[in-house]
Amino acid sequence: MRRNYSVTTIDYIDLFCGIGGFRLAVNNASAFHGVSSRCVFSCDVDAECQNAYLENFNERPEGDISKIEPQEIPNHDVLLAGFPCQPFSIIGKMRGFRDTRGTLFFHIARILEAKKPTSFVLENVKLLSGHDKGKTLNTILETLNDLGYYSSYKILNALDFGLPQKRERIFIVGFRKPCDFRWPTGGARMKPLKEILERNVPKKYCASDRIVKSRQKHLRPTSVPTIWHENKAGHVSAHPYSCALRAGASYNYLLVNGKRRLTPREMLRLQGFPENYRIVCNDHQIRKQAGNSLPVPVAEAVLRNVVECVKGIHSGVYEKQKHMSIDGQSFCFEKAVYNRNEKAKVASR
Ligand SMILES: C[S@@+](CC[C@H](N)C(=O)[O-])C[C@H]1O[C@@H](n2cnc3c(N)ncnc32)[C@H](O)[C@@H]1O
Repeated sequence: MRRNYSVTTIDYIDLFCGIGGFRLAVNNASAFHGVSSRCVFSCDVDAECQNAYLENFNERPEGDISKIEPQEIPNHDVLLAGFPCQPFSIIGKMRGFRDTRGTLFFHIARILEAKKPTSFVLENVKLLSGHDKGKTLNTILETLNDLGYYSSYKILNALDFGLPQKRERIFIVGFRKPCDFRWPTGGARMKPLKEILERNVPKKYCASDRIVKSRQKHLRPTSVPTIWHENKAGHVSAHPYSCALRAGASYNYLLVNGKRRLTPREMLRLQGFPENYRIVCNDHQIRKQAGNSLPVPVAEAVLRNVVECVKGIHSGVYEKQKHMSIDGQSFCFEKAVYNRNEKAKVASR
């Protein structure tokens, strides 16, 4: 829903920016609400990602986040971070913000502490929600709570947002003030694969005869396009959508009609990147970048609701509401560990 709040620009930072999936999403989401958006800081340690970002957004991101002092980062309204899964192995054993030192999440937390943006959106693999029996996610949510944020998380699937890719990702959003944030529900019609697949694909994308034969032992090609997926156990399945693109997957993990690999443009389309996104890296790099990226329409749907809340917070509309329903119906605290405390805090306002 579009409401008329008087905020004209959303300043954001794009951490672990990769090739800019979050940036495309927040720009689209802001435009939807009639506000302009401005990236005031971006960073990614990977030189190839920096090249792609520079080519497409006319800005070379800074490098290693651990070398950047939070005070050097400009003030911003929204912090965006599709942070790598690296902290998983250790974070669940930790107890709060200071204890997460040494993880990439810690760097997000220290920026939130120093700069206090109105909102943040974090994205990661679905596995984060169940890692170490939920302790890893709990540590993250507790830390965000300690930093003064009202946070919520949800697992969203790109298939529900129009992309022919089964990609489930966890999104965590937070706000410095309570507001009517709602998770998007999806329900968009899935784009058929034929709108994603290129014609006259160069031979270099064809799998070897040996691979094609080994796939056809399991399945027969059909007249409608499918993407064949081989799992770690060697089981092959064909779908009218792609399984999740993965940065480190084997070369033939996904094959169009069991015969050829996806082209760079097809991979970007599967993540919802626009046709005018410029490809400047080699195939190997694009495969890694697309596998690491986020599904743009999913992030955009989340950010549309985030931008609306940020506008509302800045213009004070929520403070005028007498009965703010901060519960599972609107701002979803239902899965957060600090549920009761936060409700008590809000109730005493
Ligand atoms: C999961 S990807 C995020 C991709 C991004 N959301 C996109 O749409 O393309 C994580 C990114 O974090 C970057 N990264 C890893 N360690 C980093 C560090 N210490 N400082 C900055 N970036 C880092 C990686 O190079 C990678 O591009």
